[in-house]
Amino acid sequence: MTVVSAGFFDRPWTGHAAAVLDGMAAHMRVHRGLPTPESIADLHAEVRAVHPDVLVAIGGGSVIDATKVAAALVAGGVGGPRLAAHIRASGPVPTAGIPVVAVPTTPGTGAEVTPFATVWDPTSDRKLSVSGPAVRPAGALLDPQLLGGLPLAQLASCVLDTLAQGIEAAWSVQADASAIAYGLAAVSTVAPLLDPVANRCDSTSVRTALLLAGYHSGAAIARAETTACHAVSYPLTLRLGLAHGHACGAVLGRLLRYNAAVTERSCRDSRGVAHVRRVIADIVDAFDDAGDGAGDGAFDGAGDGAVSGVGGVDRRIDDFLSRCALPRYDELAVDHAQVAAAAVRYSRCHNNPRALDARALTDLLSAPAPSVIGDLQCCG
Ligand SMILES: [Fe+2]
Repeated sequence: MTVVSAGFFDRPWTGHAAAVLDGMAAHMRVHRGLPTPESIADLHAEVRAVHPDVLVAIGGGSVIDATKVAAALVAGGVGGPRLAAHIRASGPVPTAGIPVVAVPTTPGTGAEVTPFATVWDPTSDRKLSVSGPAVRPAGALLDPQLLGGLPLAQLASCVLDTLAQGIEAAWSVQADASAIAYGLAAVSTVAPLLDPVANRCDSTSVRTALLLAGYHSGAAIARAETTACHAVSYPLTLRLGLAHGHACGAVLGRLLRYNAAVTERSCRDSRGVAHVRRVIADIVDAFDDAGDGAGDGAFDGAGDGAVSGVGGVDRRIDDFLSRCALPRYDELAVDHAQVAAAAVRYSRCHNNPRALDARALTDLLSAPAPSVIGDLQCCG
């Protein structure tokens, strides 16, 4: 059984893919829009009726996440109209479900490798997370040809999601050496691609690198989760309808500046402030290695000063947003205090390496000039 997005039918490769699937007589289901408890309950009912040996999810993060949850819950005792309530209540996820093979047609979400899935609940205005070993896809197929035909804004949003996931997994208080390595690998792969993507370069080598960077960012957050940047993105998506990666990218530079100014007193990572600054210097260096001069991170490992070079990265991300016609955060009409209050309710927010409460987050979001963000105070 295959699950595809509505966009499946509008891509340059649609005819070929549809012919292959017809030849396999595969049952096809279209999942539209973001995954919600109700959309997953509908998909779950169909999966139960068909009971396939394997589910193939072809699409972006929404299709892959919806399929992952439906496949994982198929072995549980809950179904029908009660399934949506089960998802809302964070009910148990069986340890094994129907295996899923993920075939991303957008790069960067990492959904093809993570043991969790995002579910959007419009009734409570909340982003939910369904997690467990059975949620992780059994396999993934990364084919650069499948990225063909993506509009620039959609591709740019995917690139920003990759960047945010790589950076956040690396500086997460939960990051082990493996998560840091995967996160930095994602950043160092995707940073040199900002200019080619903004310039609409659509070569096979760029597409392949985007897919690999997305896979690495997924492997990184599977180990360390995301942090405050993703937590802020959820209310931006729910309230303004921003694409997920765009919402992450719009605030990534602000969080980078904020975390780079971490002090002994405000550090939440048990490995100490030197560890956090070193990771952020490595993030900045990944941009410098891209050859655009944005980075040049420096940290001597012993001093009390903030990491240098973060301003260049912040400007680089904002420049990428503008070149791809995606509004920057300061161009959004949003109530900063409401966004901050919603963001700190997500547990992801507290993986942040520098202490962050609603007041500090409101100040960070409402600051007119990025240059003052490093000086904002929160818990020291
Ligand atoms: Fe993400």
